[in-house]
Amino acid sequence: MDSHDVQADLKHVLYTKEQIQQRIAELAAQIDKDYEGRELLIVGVLKGAVMVMADLARALHSHVSMDWMAVSSYGSGTQSSGVVRILKDLDTDLMGKDVLIVEDIIDSGLTLSWLKTNLESRGTASVEICTAFRKPDAAKVELDVKYVGYDLPNEFVVGYGLDYAEKYRNLEFVGTLAPHVYE
Ligand code: PRP
Repeated sequence: MDSHDVQADLKHVLYTKEQIQQRIAELAAQIDKDYEGRELLIVGVLKGAVMVMADLARALHSHVSMDWMAVSSYGSGTQSSGVVRILKDLDTDLMGKDVLIVEDIIDSGLTLSWLKTNLESRGTASVEICTAFRKPDAAKVELDVKYVGYDLPNEFVVGYGLDYAEKYRNLEFVGTLAPHVYE
């Protein structure tokens, strides 16, 4: 879907398809360089990371393995609680592996903080994080994120994997939602 398909639901387009693809290509080039000569496993966190996993993996010039996790934060509403339940675990044994967790967004940072510690406890050689977007003003924990696409304002953002009530994930850009959609 492009901006014409959802024009009435949008406040602003924050990053266009072209800007996102350009940034993903830059991150991929950095990842290729940083992991040169090593075997990398990229781990996508369902469901939001599907878009960035697909684009990042194809922008890399190195072989990578891909695996997926699904996690759910305990608690109510849209707020992350930091207590995470694994809905789908990895198929891969992580012993000795270099792992890169790939996310669509880091909001409070609580989910990723838990996930990084969880994966590190499985005997990995390294665990780093790559996220398409981050909301710095929403951070509740300090989290070392090695690869960040773009920072976003602390507003209701949708697109490129980010949903509102499971819709808008398939926008090829990221934008803020008009208040009438969620009020
Ligand atoms: C989003 C995102 C992260 C988490 C970040 O997932 O993909 O996993 O929230 O929030 P935090 O930094 O406050 O912990 P969500 O739970 O919305 O699931 P989804 O990927 O299926 O949309």
